[in-house]
Amino acid sequence: MIITRRSLLAVTAGGFAATGLGGLAWAAELPKLKKKDKYKVGFAQTESNNPWRLAQTASMKDEAAKRGWQLVYTDAAGSAAKQVADVRSMIAQKVDVILLAPREEKPLIPAVMEAKNAGIPLFCIDRGVDPTMAKAGRDYVAFIGSDFVKEGMMAGDAFAKAVGGKAKIIELQGTTGSSPANDRMKGFKDAIGKYPDMVIVASQSGDFARDKGRQVFETLYQAHPEATALYGHNDEMSMGAIAAMEAAGKTPGKDIMIVSIDGTKDAAQAVADGKIAVLVECNPHFGPKAFSSIVDYADGQTLAAALVNTDRLFTKDNIASYLPEAF
Ligand code: AHR
Repeated sequence: MIITRRSLLAVTAGGFAATGLGGLAWAAELPKLKKKDKYKVGFAQTESNNPWRLAQTASMKDEAAKRGWQLVYTDAAGSAAKQVADVRSMIAQKVDVILLAPREEKPLIPAVMEAKNAGIPLFCIDRGVDPTMAKAGRDYVAFIGSDFVKEGMMAGDAFAKAVGGKAKIIELQGTTGSSPANDRMKGFKDAIGKYPDMVIVASQSGDFARDKGRQVFETLYQAHPEATALYGHNDEMSMGAIAAMEAAGKTPGKDIMIVSIDGTKDAAQAVADGKIAVLVECNPHFGPKAFSSIVDYADGQTLAAALVNTDRLFTKDNIASYLPEAF
């Protein structure tokens, strides 16, 4: 049975998250990739509104240029629907392989499955899709990126130590429905669960964006003036929250302790300045690993389902050596 775009969307909308893919027969096995000197690679970016995304795009473009490969680049501008359309356009342009940074876990499933049905190998880059709906090694080649649960745990463990096991925390979540938001929330909660006096007093999405982070923090802090800490799922939201704290006459790093994730220049400087206590890296430099994985796959290697990046932990004690490479 060939799944058409219409039936796939109907199934997705009808909630095949609940039933999984078990009952459906797909048109093809995981597509193979012919060995060639140069490839036409599609890179479907989710948005370009923060330094992490810009560093990721630059890394892809640099690597393509270094190898003399053609890069078909799209920017979904924060819209999962546009990102699905971007992948469809790449399929129509007959790219050899697709690198997809899925904005959210469920809405990008049609893009993954349509690439498979078109015989185009696809890698999920940096963010994952819902594993009950599409699986690495079966529906797409592999996931390449960070372990977001581990990042959340690293953040929670190190932060609990930094604040002596006691904090009333405002959490700024990433984009609702995205794998980093879901997993960073889980990892952090698991880590602070060991400390009875580490409590999340409010938690809301700031959509991984600086100004949204500022606005959401301002509102949550007004409702919870007892808060003593901030957990930002990314640096842009944390920097927005720092602006809100300073506007409210509070001193970040004293009145409100902060733990954040990414490793941008601004956040690394904020660690050096004593405003952020704990910073967990999320490495955006995917180009070399993504492109060499394409070559490995064309060589016939069976890739691991998840090719996981190693992320570092920074505090005031070791931030100086990281600052020159911060993005
Ligand atoms: O998926 C990785 C996250 O997405 C980064 O933490 C964030 O800055 C980006 O938008």
